[in-house]
Amino acid sequence: NWSMDDFIDQQIQKIRDTVGDKKVLLGLSGGVDSSVVGVLLHKAIGTQLTSIFVDHGLLRKNEADQVMDSLAGKFGLNIIKVDAKDRFLSKLAGVTDPEKKRKIIGNEFIQVFNDEAQKLKGIDFLAQGTLYTDVIESGTSTAQTIKSHHNVGGLPKDMHFKLIEPLRTLFKDETRQLGEKLGIPHELVWRQPFPGPGLGIRVIGEVTDEKLKIVRDSDWVLRDEIAKNGLDEKIWQYFTVLPGIRSVGVMGDGRTYDYTIGIRAVTSIDGMTADFAKIPWDVLQKISVRIVNEVDHVNRVVYDITSKPPATIEWE
Ligand code: XMP
Repeated sequence: NWSMDDFIDQQIQKIRDTVGDKKVLLGLSGGVDSSVVGVLLHKAIGTQLTSIFVDHGLLRKNEADQVMDSLAGKFGLNIIKVDAKDRFLSKLAGVTDPEKKRKIIGNEFIQVFNDEAQKLKGIDFLAQGTLYTDVIESGTSTAQTIKSHHNVGGLPKDMHFKLIEPLRTLFKDETRQLGEKLGIPHELVWRQPFPGPGLGIRVIGEVTDEKLKIVRDSDWVLRDEIAKNGLDEKIWQYFTVLPGIRSVGVMGDGRTYDYTIGIRAVTSIDGMTADFAKIPWDVLQKISVRIVNEVDHVNRVVYDITSKPPATIEWE
């Protein structure tokens, strides 16, 4: 007679038994899994939990604030937020290869996390949002080799923590149910997938501050329109990309030579295959008009009508 309430009670008891009066560290990414672990642990051991949230500057608009408002504000978690944008941007300067970018972001993430963790004394445990699917996948070598997936929150190699993984037996949908039960805001629990390297792989080629702003602002407009039109839970993943090409346009009396924004929106079950979403023309039109009007340096918007395969969901 399994219920989520029983699961929560059991896990809280188990965490208390394991941790005793020791301290636990958690890496928050802003995603569902680590947020659920954070709130669950906070319920179990309160101030014995310290969380580190590395803001790599590649998050979506308002995302870092939302995480802080909700988890630190509403739930009262003790979160150390590290503003590491400059560190990441300087490491990424001049780098155009997608796989190199992923590796740099993944490595830098671990380093920033380590640097912060080292300042904390007397931590015995490291909590992680490992799901059942992660447990199965890491046992085989069939994991994505098309793109190296760097998920934020990887275990720092040279640190000797004992692991706490309270979601190890859960699937994603169960983790979401658990999140709802714990009172985590709906938007956070049902958030669309977001890659660890973030907007870093949605600016095609070299990542610069200016380009990040364009992709972030256009993504915000897209998300706003998708939500206003009630499509946010119908489309599996939707975002904008900045291919980096410029083309000629005309605005007012003048000629422009500015960036193109690509819109990617797909329906999918698990991200392994996907179809481009059939967003109604009038919604697409609204999105296009708004992006060009509201985002500086964009004069053209295109819609990606490729499925996966042959294209991948992300452009890099
Ligand atoms: P692709 O582009 O391979 O993406 O069709 C499939 C799903 O995986 C996400 N994705 C990533 N997630 N780190 C992640 O954590 C990554 O490096 C990464 N690359 C792609 C992508 O957003 C989609 O949901």
